[in-house]
Parts: sequence; C-alpha cells; structure tokens
Amino acid sequence: MFHRLTTLVADVRSRANASVAIDRALRDPRLLLRYIRRTGSSAWIRAVFDTRREYEQLASEVRESGLIEELQRGLGDAFAGLSGSTVRGAGYVDGAMKIGHVLALYAVVRKRRPAVVLETGVCNGFSTAILLEGLRRNDTGHLYSVDLPEVAGDIDGGRQFWSGKGGAVVPPDRPSGWLVPEQLQDRWTLCLGRSTAVLPGLVNRLGQIDLFIHDSEHSLENQMFEFRLAWQHLCPGGLLAASDINCSPAFLQFCEEIRDAGHVYFVDDGLAFMVKGHEARPHTARTNRGNTFAASFWWQLLFLLWVGVVSALYYRQFSDLVLARFPAVRSWWPW
Ligand SMILES: C[S@@+](CC[C@H](N)C(=O)[O-])C[C@H]1O[C@@H](n2cnc3c(N)ncnc32)[C@H](O)[C@@H]1O
Repeated sequence: MFHRLTTLVADVRSRANASVAIDRALRDPRLLLRYIRRTGSSAWIRAVFDTRREYEQLASEVRESGLIEELQRGLGDAFAGLSGSTVRGAGYVDGAMKIGHVLALYAVVRKRRPAVVLETGVCNGFSTAILLEGLRRNDTGHLYSVDLPEVAGDIDGGRQFWSGKGGAVVPPDRPSGWLVPEQLQDRWTLCLGRSTAVLPGLVNRLGQIDLFIHDSEHSLENQMFEFRLAWQHLCPGGLLAASDINCSPAFLQFCEEIRDAGHVYFVDDGLAFMVKGHEARPHTARTNRGNTFAASFWWQLLFLLWVGVVSALYYRQFSDLVLARFPAVRSWWPW
C-alpha cells in the first residue's frame, strides 16, 4: 500500500499527470477508480512469472551485467556538453526509459522468449540495447524498432513533432540508436520514420508479433493508433507494453475497447501491459487469489477511514498540545 500511495503522490506532483487524472476523474470516475486500484500493483509479476523470485533473478541478470552502467556512461558523456531546447521549448534530455521499466521489459523478454519483438521509440537506444541483451541471452528472437529521431539543434526537423513532445533528442551527428553496442546489433532491424507511416507496412510484413512496446509519440491519436494496430497483429497470449501511459487517456480508453479480449496489468503509473486473449485468464485468477491483505483496495479505503476517525478523535489533544507549545498561533488556530 505504501508503494501505491507514493506512486499516487508522485503522480499528482507531476502537473501533466495531475491534469490528465483530474480530466479523467471528471469525465469518467469509474475508469479513474480502476486506474488507482491498479497503480503500483505487483499483480503483473504474478501474471507473467512463476514466482517473484524468478522475476528478480531475471532482472538481476542485466542489473549485474554492467550493461546499464555502460549505457548510462555513454549517455552521460554524449549529453555532458549538450544544452539547449527544442523548438517547442523543452530542454534537451536523453529520453531513456526508467530503470525499473527496462528491467521489467528485460525480464519479460527473458521469460517469454519472444520470436518477434516490435518497439516504437528508440531515441539514443537505451531500452533497445536492454531488449537486445535479453534476446542475445535467449539466443533467439529479433527486435524491430521504429523511430523518428529529433536531433538536437535541428530546428526545422523539430517542427514535424507533436506539440506535446518532450525534449528527448539524439546529439547532433548521431543516428537513432547510436548507443546500442555493436555486438548486440545482429538481432536488430531499425526502421526510421513516423510510426503512422512505417508501422502498417512493417506489421503486415511481420504477420504476427509476440511482444509490442510503445515508447514513441505519446499523443492520444498516436497511442490509439499504435495500440489498435499492434493488438491486431499480436499473437494469442502476446503482450503489449505501453510506456508513458499517463501522457494521454489512450491506454485507459484502449482497455475499454478490448475489454474481454485481454487482461491489463499496471507495473506502475507509467508502464502497463496487456496480455492478449483468454490464455491470460488463469493468471488473473491467480492474481486475485494472491492479493495480499495490504494490497486490497478495500483495505486501503478502510485504512483511510480509520485515519480520518482517529484524526477527528484526537484533534482536541493535538490542538491543546500545539497551543500549549506555541501560544502565538492561538489567534488564527481554527479550533
Ligand atoms: C522517449 S524516446 C524513446 C526512448 C527509448 N525508448 C529509450 O529508452 O531510450 C521517444 C522517441 O520516439 C521518437 N518519436 C516521436 N514521435 C514519433 C513518431 N510519431 N513516430 C516515431 N517515433 C517518434 C522521438 O523522437 C524519440 O526518439
């Protein structure tokens, strides 16, 4: 529960997330309630892995390999002298996925051993490299990546992006995915261009996808476009992962669209999975049974009520204590 509360506090602290949340609350409180229930849940681990220990072992593989540090060093060096902002006024950033998210995706790749992985949004190549490391260890599978990179300093090029885009850029004279180590590139195909232009032809060529990961343009239109298209081509039991789900209401909207066609699991407020088809049902049953006392939404509600009652009961004592110690506040103290 503590994890959920901290996640929600972080959510509200971010202005963009708060405005999306308030907007959703006003327009569809039922969906928002469901979202809050799933925020920060570890149900996704029980749905994808046999045990939490299995997940942790897989994640620690890449954590201990030194690859993450190597990539971070590469990013640090490249961005050390790079300052400025895009035409939209967003400061330059490397755009790399959160460590917790790439660890989750890496472990999913290792567990599921997908033959065809498709991701959108490469930028410098941080998440791409981690996914490829998973495929290398599996000794099977291929990653297809779609990216329309924004190059730092390229003002004209910057105008082609949606107005809400942040400052994720590649340094001048570096290609999309430049960070991916050469020894990981043999299982990788990079397709450059806008996802609406590139994805339809690519998914037709691929036929079926085992794992889809969205991390490109987080506008409502583009997210809906990618989710719908990827879902159509996802194999039964396949997994769709969406990053930055709080940038638009697309993910929750898409959850409503697919309804019984799949199952949804939230890693946290920024990353979620959809598992396609009925194959995922037993996982959900296990998930529900596995809900711990503290993780249950109703227990959280009860806890908040209890906090309210206790605060009301002890307010008098608290107030006396404060006034005794700080008599100066008596003039404006409400009680
Ligand atoms: C957040 S970054 C991806 C970060 C990457 N996953 C990582 O961990 O390093 C998003 C990338 O998507 C690209 N992008 C933005 N709009 C796009 C679009 N419509 N189609 C394809 N790529 C787009 C951005 O330029 C950027 O390279």
